[in-house]
Amino acid sequence: MAVGIFDSGLGGLTVLDAVTKRLPDVPFVYYGDNAHAPYGVRDADDIYNLTTRAVERLWEAGCDLVILACNTANAAALRRMQESWIPTDKRVLGVFVPLIEAMTERQWGDNSPPREVAVKHVALFATPATVSSRAFQRELAFRAIGVDVEAQACGGVVDAIEEGDMILAEALVRSHVDALKRKMPTPDAAILGCTHYPHMQEVFQTALGQGVKVFSQANLVAESLADYLQRHPTMMGTGDQSMFMTSGDPRKVSDRATQFLRRKIDFIAA
Ligand code: DGL
Repeated sequence: MAVGIFDSGLGGLTVLDAVTKRLPDVPFVYYGDNAHAPYGVRDADDIYNLTTRAVERLWEAGCDLVILACNTANAAALRRMQESWIPTDKRVLGVFVPLIEAMTERQWGDNSPPREVAVKHVALFATPATVSSRAFQRELAFRAIGVDVEAQACGGVVDAIEEGDMILAEALVRSHVDALKRKMPTPDAAILGCTHYPHMQEVFQTALGQGVKVFSQANLVAESLADYLQRHPTMMGTGDQSMFMTSGDPRKVSDRATQFLRRKIDFIAA
């Protein structure tokens, strides 16, 4: 019984950390495709091919249920995977929907018609591929009316985090927030639509101002996964070991992951 967590690199660790705390008895197998990060500057076919290869590797590791903890893969590949690729005995769950359900004040899986919600002006920070897919706006439109979304593609931030250059990442976040504020001076909420960005959450919050409610995915995904596993206990899979796998250099990736999670993490080659 293991659940797979996939990201293009280190961003999914923010989700891994939250699900591990929420579900301490569930083993999680993490796959970071660090050799191919960032995904956010790739085209949809490329993202689909890389994501499906990684998910297959997690299935081989005994994870029948995989969380795509990568918004870019959610935006560019998840629908295509669900329509024609995923076998009936496996599940791949995304991270968009729990976030949008929280922002639109819905219970998990509430599919009632769209309605007015408290937030009116939302800033979306995400990778270039996620922004150009407009997947957030589409999911939001199913659930809420009258919400103005201004999206900011945050080029360079994922690369800087993957390289461990947090000074550059911080400078880029500030400049992306400035660019967003020129288009939408007073957002009332902001979405961190990339799982790498919670590594910089304080920088986003300070640059946006304390009055802006910042939504990030990790805890929301953990709650919705707990709810899902309660309803589908057989989806836990056959694997029984927690494990960290990477397509990149295991030593380099382990060092960065240890720094981010502030506990010793050992990646192995995928
Ligand atoms: N963490 C991924 C996401 O949530 C980063 C994508 C990338 O590799 O550019 O979108």
